[in-house]
Amino acid sequence: MTGILSAYKQVMKIFLIGFMGSGKTHWGRLLSQKLNIPFFDLDEQVVSHEGKSIAEIFAESGEEHFRLLEKDVMHIIAESHDSFVMACGGGTPCYFNNIEYMNQSGTTVWINTAIDTLFYRLMGEKEKRPLIKDLTDEQLRGFIGKKYADRKIYYEQADVVIDEEPVRLDFLIEKIFHA
Ligand code: S3P
Repeated sequence: MTGILSAYKQVMKIFLIGFMGSGKTHWGRLLSQKLNIPFFDLDEQVVSHEGKSIAEIFAESGEEHFRLLEKDVMHIIAESHDSFVMACGGGTPCYFNNIEYMNQSGTTVWINTAIDTLFYRLMGEKEKRPLIKDLTDEQLRGFIGKKYADRKIYYEQADVVIDEEPVRLDFLIEKIFHA
């Protein structure tokens, strides 16, 4: 590990945010390995906390309940660890005061993937995501455009914005350390 990485290691709370399909889990895992700090996938943590899949939580208790759980689990992780990389859900920064909380607790990073890329990725990954699982491909395109427009005001409050495609790990790290 380089000097700069080890110097910051003690106090690094990194929250990856962005639309479904933007690669938060993939890049979060790689980033945490590179920085040698724990990785948390917020969706996975909610699932293990509840003992139910995201689809089951939505179906049995509704989205509002999911949003409360998502916030609570995010707080529990953030308050019980000094350093981590967390891959948030696509909606996490858009509810309650989550984005302010994350900005105050650590560094937020928005992976701002192009809408066309999101569409091609999500077309093949609808099933596990309750918000899109019943949409036709045509409807999915419209949904992404509208939801992205609604959520942008939250995403753009991130400390670091990654617009480059494809994302590169070295560049991601450099931007985070210069935030
Ligand atoms: C959601 C995104 C999902 C998951 C849930 C709701 C959203 O996470 O939290 O299905 O509101 O955008 P990913 O972004 O990891 O797919």
